[in-house]
Amino acid sequence: MSRSPPPEFSPLRSAILAQALGSILAGALVQLVWPKLWAAPFAVALLQGACAALASYKLEAPPWWRAIHLAFAPLVVAASTLALDPGWYLAAFVTLLLIFWRTDKSRVPLYLSNALTADTVAGLLPSYPCHVIDLGCGNGSLLRRLALARPDCEFLGIEHAPLPWLWARLASWPLGNVHIRYGDFWSLHLGLFAVTYAFLSPAPMSRLWQKACAEAAEGSLLVSNGFAVPGVAPTETIDVADRRATRLYLYRPAPGK
Ligand SMILES: C[S@@+](CC[C@H](N)C(=O)[O-])C[C@H]1O[C@@H](n2cnc3c(N)ncnc32)[C@H](O)[C@@H]1O
Repeated sequence: MSRSPPPEFSPLRSAILAQALGSILAGALVQLVWPKLWAAPFAVALLQGACAALASYKLEAPPWWRAIHLAFAPLVVAASTLALDPGWYLAAFVTLLLIFWRTDKSRVPLYLSNALTADTVAGLLPSYPCHVIDLGCGNGSLLRRLALARPDCEFLGIEHAPLPWLWARLASWPLGNVHIRYGDFWSLHLGLFAVTYAFLSPAPMSRLWQKACAEAAEGSLLVSNGFAVPGVAPTETIDVADRRATRLYLYRPAPGK
């Protein structure tokens, strides 16, 4: 099992550093050992990729970064032979940015809860009418399924990535009990909600737990899809019978916990 990077780990800084170190090392090797290799850009790119992957390993970045560093420069060199209009690269970059936004900062990419998980969460909602929030609601599909199952409850989704937010907003329009807000969930108080749902990543779980304990209403439920709070025993775990083997971690946050 791979180790989680430390909480202060910055993927963007680490990636830039690994690429820079890889370039310096590969450049020095070619210059000092085999200058004729400069005539073969793809071979130089492969060497740079190997050096960047090594640097990433030394910087203790998560293991999948090594494959990314290994492939990055060779793919850039290969793509430059395609003679594509640079506008396509810009368009692809902007589209990915609008979908994933600052994943390098939040360390929470976009992936969606499936229908079986939503149905399981629906079964966890209190029997009385209540407020439910999805922190980082993506395209809002989970909330819409919950809202159809429980028309007596109010559902709020908050999302900071522009395209998923727009999608969630437009798709949820017909449902009167789903509200989609653009913004950062860290600045939203959790006191109103009987159930807080989060499908994030390991990185923010400790901070989320502190926030929930400080703000959540007494008796409220925190449901985390896939990621446990480090060092805190869940009150219950539920295994969803889906192909992804989703596990839900249930917590009862309270002040002082
Ligand atoms: C793994 S997806 C889960 C989407 C949805 N909750 C679901 O279960 O289908 C996590 C989402 O959280 C969003 N996100 C991450 N950090 C956020 C923040 N601080 N404020 C708002 N949204 C955030 C991401 O953009 C992403 O869309």
